[in-house]
Formats: sequence, structure tokens, C-alpha cells
Amino acid sequence: MSSKILGKWVLITGATSGIGRACAELFAKNGASLILTGRRSDRLEAAQNVLQEKYGVKVKTYNFDVREFNEAVKMANDLQASEIIPDILINNAGLASGKDKIYEGLISDWEKMIDTNIKGLLYITRAILPMMVASNEGHIINIGSTAGHLVYPEGNVYNASKYAVKALNEAINLDLMGTNIRCGSIDPGACETEFSEVRFHGNKDKAGKVYEGYEPLKPQDIADAALYICSAPAHVNITTMIIYPTAQRSAYVWDKK
Ligand SMILES: NC(=O)c1ccc[n+]([C@@H]2O[C@H](COP(=O)([O-])OP(=O)(O)OC[C@H]3O[C@@H](n4cnc5c(N)ncnc54)[C@H](OP(=O)(O)O)[C@@H]3O)[C@@H](O)[C@H]2O)c1
Repeated sequence: MSSKILGKWVLITGATSGIGRACAELFAKNGASLILTGRRSDRLEAAQNVLQEKYGVKVKTYNFDVREFNEAVKMANDLQASEIIPDILINNAGLASGKDKIYEGLISDWEKMIDTNIKGLLYITRAILPMMVASNEGHIINIGSTAGHLVYPEGNVYNASKYAVKALNEAINLDLMGTNIRCGSIDPGACETEFSEVRFHGNKDKAGKVYEGYEPLKPQDIADAALYICSAPAHVNITTMIIYPTAQRSAYVWDKK
């Protein structure tokens, strides 16, 4: 139990599965109230019911697509009207869509990744950060990726979108100089979630193969890191945390049995 988290409001985008859902569980377990977003309303509702019941915390949900700036503003206005200022924002919603050579890639995949991973993160940050700046308190965690540190074949646009998250994480930090607001990214390697199923457009066989022959990260491992970062004393700003499975040392170096 982290006493630093108790009673805080934590906004998590993409809380309907994987890393976002694991963060919701762990922060609720540590006594935080939650603001959860995602496009799948049934899953949001289920998470709300389960977490409220299990941990006795407040859970608010906003069902929208992070590619819609107006929806992010609507959420921010609604939070303000309810006198809620998020203490922690976890910019997690994101995806890889497709894995093709750049001369064969689908424009629709590229647009999805750029609009969600870069513009979606910007929209949410632009809508929420002014509230934190006005109160001179807060913490942003951006979920980047090791794909934002090293490009791999057929990763092209996904890599570019996560390099952008790396740049934005640094930029947000610079622009917050002089405030008490902290900002850091968690950049995971292979983590077993719905990520690969989404990347391969629902092909479960192809997705399953990504995690064969070694032990990938679990979404709970990333949630543990997020909790650690947010529990650090106020003068400690962890700006980047790169986390690989032990069996993966880079996009190119794997110990697969
Ligand atoms: N898994 C990995 O190996 C890995 C490695 C490095 C980084 N990451 C990053 O980790 C983050 C979370 O991914 P994950 O692995 O947990 O995958 P996941 O299980 O597929 O979860 C992705 C989450 O993002 C949400 N999302 C996607 N597009 C959205 C949109 N347009 N609007 C609102 N929400 C959206 C999804 O919710 P809805 O579908 O309900 O909207 C879902 O909750 C992503 O940024 C990903 O790039 C993952």
C-alpha cells in the first residue's frame, strides 16, 4: 500500500485493457480514485463496478476516442464542474496497427497510429494540464515504448509515433520547469496484452506467436513501475524508465527457446 497515492485522483486513458487496466487495478488497490477512459463502454462500466466494489474507491468513466479533441475538453470541463483536478494523468491509450514495409503500409493504419499515439496524447495533455498548472501540482506519466528508442524492420510509423512520445515527454518536462508538476515516461519492451492482436488486425494466431518461447512483461509490471514513479518523494522526478523482459535485451536481441 502506498500512502502517497491514497485519496488521489488518477486519470488513465485506455483503461479498458492491458497496461491501462492493470494501472487502474493497482492504483485503486492503493486507495486512489479513478477517472477511466476508453472506447469500449461495456469494459469501462465493468471496470467501474468491479473496482468500486473491490476497493471502495470512486470511479468516474468517460467513453470516448482520444482522437477527438472536443471529447477531451468535454471531460476536462466535466471534471472541473465536479471540482476534480486529476493528481496523476497516465497517457496510456495507444496502439500499433499493422506491421508492413513502408512502401506497402496502409494509410489507414498510419493515420490511426499518428492520430492516437501522438495527437491523442497531445489532446488529453492540452485539456488536462492547465488544471494541474493552475494548482501547481500533478504528475504526468506517458506510456512510450522501447520502439521510441530503436527502430525495427516494419515498425516504421509505430516507431515514429513512439519517438514522438519520447520527444513530447522531454518537451512537457522542459515546459513545466518552475512548477511542482512532474513528468516521466515508462517505455516497455514486449508486454503481453491485446497489443499484438490489435497490431495484426484481430489475427490471434499471429499475435500469440509474438509471446512464444520466452516470458514477456505482464501489464502488472508496468503498473508497478507507474506506482513506484508516483510514490517517489516530491523532489524526485523520474523522467524515463525503460523496461524490458529479461529475455529481451533490445528489439534485435532475444533469448527465445
Ligand atoms: N504491449 C506492449 O508490448 C507495449 C510495449 C510498449 C508500449 N506499449 C504501449 O502501451 C500502451 C497500452 O497498450 P497495451 O499494450 O496495454 O495494449 P491494449 O491491451 O491493446 O490496450 C490499449 C488501450 O488503449 C485504448 N485505446 C486505443 N486506441 C484508442 C483511442 N483511439 N481512443 C481511446 N482509447 C484507445 C484501448 O481502449 P479501447 O479499445 O476501449 O478504446 C485500450 O484500453 C500503448 O500506448 C502501447 O503503445 C505497449
